Amino acid sequence: MQISVIGYGYVGLVTGGCLAEAGHQVLCTDNDPARIATLEAGGLPVYEPHLDAVLAATRHRGHLRFTGDSGEAVRAGQAIFICVGTPSKQDGEADLSAIDNVARVIATEARMPKLVIEKSTVPAQTGQQLKRALQVYGRNKGGSFRVASNPEFLREGRGVEDFLHPHRIIVGVEEESSERQLRDIYHPILERQFQCPVHQPDCPPSERPELLVTTMNSAELIKHASNSFLALKISYANVLADLCDRLGANVEEVTRAMGLDPRIGPQFLRAGLGFGGSCLPKDVQAFIRLAESAGVDFGILKEAERVNKRRIDQFLEKIRRSLWVIRDKQVAVLGLAFKPNTDDIRFAPAIELIGRLLAQGARVRACDPQAIDKTKAIYPQLFYSPDPYETARDADALLITTEWQEFRDLDWQRMRALMTRPLVLDARNLLDPAAMQTLGFEYHSLGRPDT
Ligand SMILES: NC(=O)c1ccc[n+]([C@@H]2O[C@H](COP(=O)([O-])OP(=O)(O)OC[C@H]3O[C@@H](n4cnc5c(N)ncnc54)[C@H](O)[C@@H]3O)[C@@H](O)[C@H]2O)c1
Repeated sequence: MQISVIGYGYVGLVTGGCLAEAGHQVLCTDNDPARIATLEAGGLPVYEPHLDAVLAATRHRGHLRFTGDSGEAVRAGQAIFICVGTPSKQDGEADLSAIDNVARVIATEARMPKLVIEKSTVPAQTGQQLKRALQVYGRNKGGSFRVASNPEFLREGRGVEDFLHPHRIIVGVEEESSERQLRDIYHPILERQFQCPVHQPDCPPSERPELLVTTMNSAELIKHASNSFLALKISYANVLADLCDRLGANVEEVTRAMGLDPRIGPQFLRAGLGFGGSCLPKDVQAFIRLAESAGVDFGILKEAERVNKRRIDQFLEKIRRSLWVIRDKQVAVLGLAFKPNTDDIRFAPAIELIGRLLAQGARVRACDPQAIDKTKAIYPQLFYSPDPYETARDADALLITTEWQEFRDLDWQRMRALMTRPLVLDARNLLDPAAMQTLGFEYHSLGRPDT
């Protein structure tokens, strides 16, 4: 099928690349000239494991193209995926202006019937507004439009894997023809008829994903409801960690045991610095505002958000208690991305933490395997190194703020020898307290006994 993708950030690039991998002809467009230039120069505007291989292979086979001409992209696609950003406005409501802009472009450029698919995360009833906007903007232009919702559940850092091996595919439709078209689009993925670039050479068998057909409103709601529930779980684990700190229990023992109950499950029960990234914080806010506008008080979500906002304050307090005076101390920060295997620093807890440390006069040395360039644009004044050992040199304290495997695997004896003071504050519970104690570190983590 001829498919167009509008907006090629994390979601758009993965969607375009994987649908091309699945055998479709895909044309992607974006309105950011810098992103287009990066791609044309053979680079990638975002880091996502396996994405480089997928894009190179599909471009080579002629299945994937990029264009800066949004009109060309609209005219080429029988189905058009909207993958633009939907950030928060000041009051937390989702800013849908990019969706509105795209609707105008589609409506004015289309000359034939199109299926327009919302993949961006949007509040319930956006699909109805989009349909109306396409009709209004496209009056007398010759196109006609069906709208469907197909929310995306990929996790950054595992985007390609999640897209090609999803747990579920949700399609919210109003017409049978839209359902048929979406089934055709996803047929190769549902039937596993593609070369898997993640699990080469033998793609392990996994359960076939379910394609669930719903109304558009339900599909939109499913995405917000899922992300908000994950945020609730994280905040629950974080409050548990606080309680364990006070009562001398170990949050990992508690959550491991809880997770063995299939009604609860082990995922998203890790205590830490709180949820960040481009999705959970904004989606929780948008869901709270949506509920408010519908006259429903989603109080538990407000509490989850409040707990999350307090995480940085609480961790800073731990730092202050250990370091006494923060001014002029050398603080090494391991981890800038909001989670491992991505370069995404949007709403990353480490970024806020660094800002607060700088405001208190600390001298910050920062390390991350992928996110240094993006962080430099915000804090050019830091000392940066991709080498954790260089980052730890002469540090009065070392903070672990993203759970990269690379940090777990460090030679911590060597790290200790490089630091001025062997003080580690682990905001991701990445390391083993007993091992750190044996190595002679003063070691603090969250919800586990200090050493
Ligand atoms: N990042 C994730 O893990 C993830 C997962 C699931 C869903 N989502 C949702 O998907 C959407 C996109 O997220 P993302 O992380 O890829 O965002 P992103 O910021 O990385 O990418 C958005 C892209 O859209 C482009 N764009 C904006 N307005 C445009 C316009 N009018 N015309 C053409 N291009 C335009 C931007 O230049 C950018 O390249 C959001 O709604 C997000 O909530 C994200």
